[in-house]
Amino acid sequence: MKSLTLLAPLLLCVTLLFSSLNVASDSAAEALAILKWKASLQSQNHSVLLSWNTSNDPNTKTSPCAWFGIHCNHADSVTKINLTGYGVKGTLHSFPFSSLPNLAELDLSINELYGIIPHNISQLSKLTYLDLSYNQFSGQIPPEISHLVHLQTLHLAGNQLNGSIPQELGQLKFLTDLAFLSGSIPSELGNMESLSEISLYHNNLSGLIPTSFGDLRHLTVARLYENQLSGPIPEEMGNLNSLVDLELCENQLNGSIPASLGSLSNLEILFLRDNLLSGSIPNEIGNLMKLSVLELDHNNLTGNLPQGICRGGSLEYFTANDNQLTGPIPQGLKNCTSLKRVYLERNRLRGNISEDLGVYPNLKFIELSDNDLYGEVSPNWGLCRSLQSLSIARNNLSGKIPAEIGNSRQIQRLDLSSNHLVGEIPKKISKLTSLLYLFLNGNQLSGSVPLELGLMSKLLHLDLSANQLSKSIPETIGNLSMSFYLNLSINRFSQRIPIQVGKLTTLVQLDLSHNMLSGEIPGEFQSLQSLETLNLSHNNLSGEIPSSLEKLRGLYTVDISYNELQGNKGLCGNARGLPPCTPFSKKGHNSNKTFLVVMFSLLSVSCLLISSIALLFAFKRKKDTDEERQSNARDEIFFSVTPLNGRKLYKEIIRATKDFEAQYCIGKGGYGNVYKAELSSGDVVAVKKFHPLHTGEMADQRQFLNEVRALVETRHRNIVKFYGFCSSAGHSFLVYKYLERGSFASVLSKNEESEKLDWNKRVNIVKGVVNALSYLHHDCSPPIVHRDITSNNILLDLEYEAHLSDFGTAKLLNPDSSNWSNIAGTYGYIAPELSYTMQVTEKCDVFSFGVLALELIVGAYPGEFLSNLSILTAESIPLNNVLDQSLSPPPPEVVNKLIFILKLAVSCLNINPKSRPTMHTVSQLVFDHI
Ligand SMILES: *[C@@H]1O[C@H](CO)[C@@H](O)[C@H](O)[C@H]1NC(C)=O
Ligand SMILES: *[C@@H]1O[C@H](CO)[C@@H](O)[C@H](O)[C@H]1NC(C)=O
Ligand SMILES: *[C@@H]1O[C@H](CO)[C@@H](O)[C@H](O)[C@H]1NC(C)=O
Ligand SMILES: *[C@@H]1O[C@H](CO)[C@@H](O)[C@H](O)[C@H]1NC(C)=O
Ligand SMILES: *[C@@H]1O[C@H](CO)[C@@H](O)[C@H](O)[C@H]1NC(C)=O
Ligand SMILES: *[C@@H]1O[C@H](CO)[C@@H](O)[C@H](O)[C@H]1NC(C)=O
Repeated sequence: MKSLTLLAPLLLCVTLLFSSLNVASDSAAEALAILKWKASLQSQNHSVLLSWNTSNDPNTKTSPCAWFGIHCNHADSVTKINLTGYGVKGTLHSFPFSSLPNLAELDLSINELYGIIPHNISQLSKLTYLDLSYNQFSGQIPPEISHLVHLQTLHLAGNQLNGSIPQELGQLKFLTDLAFLSGSIPSELGNMESLSEISLYHNNLSGLIPTSFGDLRHLTVARLYENQLSGPIPEEMGNLNSLVDLELCENQLNGSIPASLGSLSNLEILFLRDNLLSGSIPNEIGNLMKLSVLELDHNNLTGNLPQGICRGGSLEYFTANDNQLTGPIPQGLKNCTSLKRVYLERNRLRGNISEDLGVYPNLKFIELSDNDLYGEVSPNWGLCRSLQSLSIARNNLSGKIPAEIGNSRQIQRLDLSSNHLVGEIPKKISKLTSLLYLFLNGNQLSGSVPLELGLMSKLLHLDLSANQLSKSIPETIGNLSMSFYLNLSINRFSQRIPIQVGKLTTLVQLDLSHNMLSGEIPGEFQSLQSLETLNLSHNNLSGEIPSSLEKLRGLYTVDISYNELQGNKGLCGNARGLPPCTPFSKKGHNSNKTFLVVMFSLLSVSCLLISSIALLFAFKRKKDTDEERQSNARDEIFFSVTPLNGRKLYKEIIRATKDFEAQYCIGKGGYGNVYKAELSSGDVVAVKKFHPLHTGEMADQRQFLNEVRALVETRHRNIVKFYGFCSSAGHSFLVYKYLERGSFASVLSKNEESEKLDWNKRVNIVKGVVNALSYLHHDCSPPIVHRDITSNNILLDLEYEAHLSDFGTAKLLNPDSSNWSNIAGTYGYIAPELSYTMQVTEKCDVFSFGVLALELIVGAYPGEFLSNLSILTAESIPLNNVLDQSLSPPPPEVVNKLIFILKLAVSCLNINPKSRPTMHTVSQLVFDHI
């Protein structure tokens, strides 16, 4: 017994020695082969690959098993290589395909590998998992991949592969995930019986979707959007019992939607928008009990909407706008309380909406304009407490506007224009204190405008034109101090124009024409320094034309014709409709009548989406008419939300910066320079001047307009205040509030400044940026992706409060559409996927925010942590070691906040955009924890 117990460990030792010796040689061969590949890489000196080295001790054999990213089996043979996101740069030409007989998993995704995928890859005969996605591979997909009979996962997305998907891939039986960037769909694909996910979106795939698609019984996700696929949706797709997500949008699919799709009992997401689909929507869609997203817009669909569309009670996003749908809103939508967004505009829907619609507690946006809907505006809208936008313009609504609508306090946009509404505007509408846009024009509303209107102090755009409103214009109108656009024309307003109109100093367009207004034009008009268009025609105004109009230098068109006004012979001005202030005016105006006006709506910036279109139009228009005019007045676009009108602001800035002399330059960016300008009022502004525009090159102008659009619509305490913009004679610039402490980056770069930025202030900056981003992503409609969050774009005021600036690259996103763009943003802050996929989402901002949050803690750009995102964890960043040393250590309660921010930052830096939290979640977490 004793001898045996002694013998056992000995035996074990011998066995171990033997086996290790035995395997060491295999292992060494594998190591050498791998090192050969390493030697071919440009990134061989990258820290991660430093561990890939030969032992210095000649007695110990080199084994790769302890190397970074490499895993071995019990026999020390390599089974897995995972270098995802390690910055590996080079080719696969020297990859040891023939020397790694046990390699089962190869993950080289998110690197900088280029060249072709060698056909020798087929020598990795045990391979089950191959991920080469997000590199720069080019050429064809080698058909030899089909020899990898054990392959279950193949990711090739995010490369520059071309040619078609090799038919041979159809021989694979166990492929579960397929992702290519280009090619066409071979019908052999149907042989891949185990396939569970197909991601072939944003390619140049063309031709038909093969009917064999219907054989992929395990498919759960099919993303084929943004291709040029044509022909019908194969009926066989109805066999895909496991399908959860079917995305076929943005193709050229035609024919009708097959009824068989109604059999997809697990389907939650169905995107068919932007195709050429015709025929009616099959009633069988109502069988999809789990459906939560149904997007059918921009097709040529006809017939009625299916009754049972929300039978499962899960429908949240439903869009079918821009089709030719008829009939009523289906009964099934009446109690569909899950709805969040409904777009049905521009169809021919006909039905009584007071009966067909119910109460939707989660509904944020509903758009029913341009249909033939009738009935009354239901008091139920007041119970839709999440509602932000309600549009039922250009239908046949009748009856009164219910007072209850005032209960839906979140509404920002209410458009009931061009219907047959009667009665008075209810006083309670003034409870909509979030309202920015109110369109009630083109109805038969009567009575007086309620005094309470003045309570809607955020209103930017008010159109009550073409109604039968009477009595006087209420003095409270002067309280709408932020409004840009005010149209009360074509009504029966009488009495004098209230002098309080003079308080509307941001007004750009004022139309009071076609009323019965009497008395004089109030002298207070001279305060309307932002005014560009004024129409007072067709009233009973009397007295002299006030010379104050002459002082409105921003005025562009004036119409005061058809009144009883006394000519003011001396009156002149730059505006159309006023004679120019030169003694050689050619046209003799016959005193008191008709200043002919070409209504040239230069600016209606205040209107949500119309703004950019209007601006583009204005730009274009300007160009078209350049040759015809000697006067260059039309080449200029001025816009100001300051007490100064746009033109004055422009002149002041030119003066204050001595026509942009270098000494006033306080910053430089890719799109231009930033100047500091002190106005004669003493106010200091920051001026972002764009590089001169080249003729025929729209990019910069688009850039400019993007920024303007985003800025006009965004108002938030953590977003830099926008004052105006000017475009004239080659200069285009934006004017912002000047923030005394400059950018967060510049504060960090100066020691004494950076010391003043103590831990509490830094925590506060995080809060501010989170608030601003959450607002842009989740409270703006459509959401705004900033796309260039960096420490340079976070400006600090005297109290070190953060203000987000530079929407230069912001782009308004259409919710749920794919957004592709040229890379925007700043190197070092760009989300990794953006460099490969060009897909811009809110999650790109989330990533950049993560970088910024780390930067706040470290006190410098946190490059060392970002070089290796795939292994980044909060634990791998010891707080005590990384804290900005220029500050004294934080007190314990702040330490907890910093640890929280660190964790938050790391979660935002996840390589996978889907795994990053949304800014909404981040803001809730921040609210709860710091
Ligand atoms: C890596 O570093 C070694 C030694 O420092 C140097 O000789 C070699 O050229 C470097 N390789 C590359 C690709 O930079
Ligand atoms: C070689 O790799 C080991 C880890 O495997 C590492 O500790 C060592 O520093 C590396 N040697 C060189 C010269 O980089
Ligand atoms: C490779 O590593 C990354 C990050 O650690 C991980 O997400 C991924 O699943 C790994 N790949 C494989 C095939 O294990
Ligand atoms: C690939 O296989 C070819 C023969 O088919 C051979 O000539 C070549 O050396 C192999 N390359 C590698 C990297 O194994
Ligand atoms: C839409 O359908 C109508 C007939 O219903 C047809 O005349 C029209 O050409 C179609 N439009 C498109 C874009 O297919
Ligand atoms: C709506 O009502 C119908 C019948 O009244 C019912 O079958 C359906 O399940 C209801 N839907 C929801 C979402 O409650």
